[in-house]
Amino acid sequence: MKSFYITTAIDYVNGSPHLGHAYEKVLTDVIARFRRQMGDQVHFLTGADEHGQKVQASAKKLGVDAQKYVDETSAVFRALYDRLGVSYDDFIRTTEPRHKQVVRAILQQLFDKGEIYQAEYKGFYSTRQEQFLQEKDRNPDGTWPEIFGEVTEIVEANYFFKLRQYQDWLIGFLTENENFIFPRFRQKQVLEFLKEPLNDLCISRPKERLEWGIPLPFDENYVTYVWFDALLNYYSAVAEKGLWPADWNVIGKDILVPPHAVYWPIMLKACGLPPPKGLLVHGWWLQSGAKMSKSKGDAVNPLELVDEFGVDAFRYFLIREMNVGQDSEFTREQFLVRYNSELANNLGNLVNRTLNMTTRFAGGVLPAAEAAEEPEKELRALWEKTRDECIPLAEGFQFHTALERTMAFVTATNAYIEKRAPWKLGKSAEPREQALLRTSLATMAEALRLAVALIQHVTPSTTEKINGVLGYAPGTDWREELVWGAKLDGAKVAGALVLFPRPAPAGKPPATS
Ligand code: MSP
Repeated sequence: MKSFYITTAIDYVNGSPHLGHAYEKVLTDVIARFRRQMGDQVHFLTGADEHGQKVQASAKKLGVDAQKYVDETSAVFRALYDRLGVSYDDFIRTTEPRHKQVVRAILQQLFDKGEIYQAEYKGFYSTRQEQFLQEKDRNPDGTWPEIFGEVTEIVEANYFFKLRQYQDWLIGFLTENENFIFPRFRQKQVLEFLKEPLNDLCISRPKERLEWGIPLPFDENYVTYVWFDALLNYYSAVAEKGLWPADWNVIGKDILVPPHAVYWPIMLKACGLPPPKGLLVHGWWLQSGAKMSKSKGDAVNPLELVDEFGVDAFRYFLIREMNVGQDSEFTREQFLVRYNSELANNLGNLVNRTLNMTTRFAGGVLPAAEAAEEPEKELRALWEKTRDECIPLAEGFQFHTALERTMAFVTATNAYIEKRAPWKLGKSAEPREQALLRTSLATMAEALRLAVALIQHVTPSTTEKINGVLGYAPGTDWREELVWGAKLDGAKVAGALVLFPRPAPAGKPPATS
C-alpha cells in the first residue's frame, strides 16, 4: 500500500471559523478520501495554531488565561470540522507537549550547529503581522500599508536563523522541482520573490513583549516566533511515526510567500530533513471582491449553511464552485443556484424517480436488465467516458470539473428516463414493453449507483444514504464499484428519500424531511 501523508494549514484560533477555513479542510478531506478510495494508506493531519501575538491579544481582551482561551476556541474549530465530515486522522495543537518538545529539540539542534545566532535588531515592527518590516514594504509615499496595522520602531536583541545562506539552494531546488508548488504559476512567483536577497529570520520574541509561545531552549527570556513554531507541526505530529515528508501541505495563497515556500523548506534543509513533496495552494473565498476574513464582521458562518442545507450540500458547493488555486466569490444566490439546479432538481430528481418507479412498477424490487438497446448502450458509454475522465481529473485536483462531468451524466440519465418513459411502458402488457420497463428501471438505478459512487469523496453521507435506499452495500474496492454491472439485481429499494428539500423563499427555513 502506498502511504500518503497530507496536511492542512493550522488555523489561528483567535476567533470563529469561517467559510475560508472550512473550505481548506473540506478540500483536503476530499483529497484524503479520494486517495483512500484509490487504495493509499492515508494519514491526514489538521490542527490549531495556538501561540503568538494574535491569540495572546484576544485572550487578554477577554481577560482570560491564554491556555483556557485556546482550549475553548480550538474546540470550536475542531467541532466544525467534525460536523463537516472532515476525516482527519490527527488533530495537532501547538500547545501540546508532543509538539513543544519537537520544536525545542529542533531549536537546540540548530543552535548547536551554529544556524542560529544572536544580534541586536533595530527596525520597524508590525504587531498585527508579528513581523519586522523592511524599507521595501513601505507604500510609494513612505507610509506603511494598512495590513501592517500600527508600526513602531524598536531596538532589541534577538535570535536569528541563517536563512540567507540557503537562498541559492532554494532557488536550485525550485528550479529542479518544477511541480513542487501547485498550481505551477505560483512557483514562478516564489522564484520572483527570491530575486531579492533574503534577510535572516528573526525567530525569537522577548518575553516582555510576548509571553505566549514556546520558550527558546537556550535562552528562556525569549519565546519562539509563531511561524517557526507553527510550521513545525507538520513534522512534530508524525516525527515518531516516521511519516515525514508529507505528500502535500495544503495552504491558502496568503501563507505561501514567505512562510511555506521560503522558511519551511529552508528550516527542514537546515535540520537535514527533506522538504514536503508538494505545496498545494488554494485561492480565497471572496466577499464583494475582498478576502473573507475574521476581522470583517460579515464572514460566512459555515454552520448556518450546514444547518439550513445539510453537510453534503455545503461540501458539494465548495468543491463544485472553486477551481483549486483560483479565487471565488461567495454569494448565497450562487449557492442556491447550485443547490436547486444540480442537487435538488438533477440528482434529487433521479433518486425520487428511481425509487418511485421501482416501487410502482416492480413492487420495490430492482429487476435485471435485459437486452441493451441503443439508449442503454449510449448511457453506458457515457458512463465509461465520465469515469475514465473523472479519475485523472481528481488526481490533478480538478474536482470542480469532475463534479460537472458527473452531473452531466446524471442529466443524461434523467434524459434517458424521459426517452424510455417507464410510465408509458408500465401501461402495456406487451412482453417487449415489459422487458423494456425492467431494463429501464435497472438502468436508471445502476446509473444512479455509479454516479454517487463517483462523487463519494465529496458527498460521503449522501452516497451512503442513496446506497441505503437502493438496498445496496458497496464493496471495499472502489474501482470495482465503478464498473457498470448487475450489482443491484434483486435489491429491495425504499419507497422515498428526501435528500435536498427545496428551500423556502428567502427568510424562511426550508421544509424538512
Ligand atoms: N496559523 C496560520 C497558518 C499556519 S500553518 C503552519 C494561519 N491561520 S489562519 O487562520 O489565518 O488561516 C488558516 C488557513 O485558512 C490558511 O491556509 C488561509 O489561507 C485559509 N484562509 C483564511 N481565509 C481564507 C479565505 N477567505 N478563503 C480561503 N482560505 C482562506 O494563516
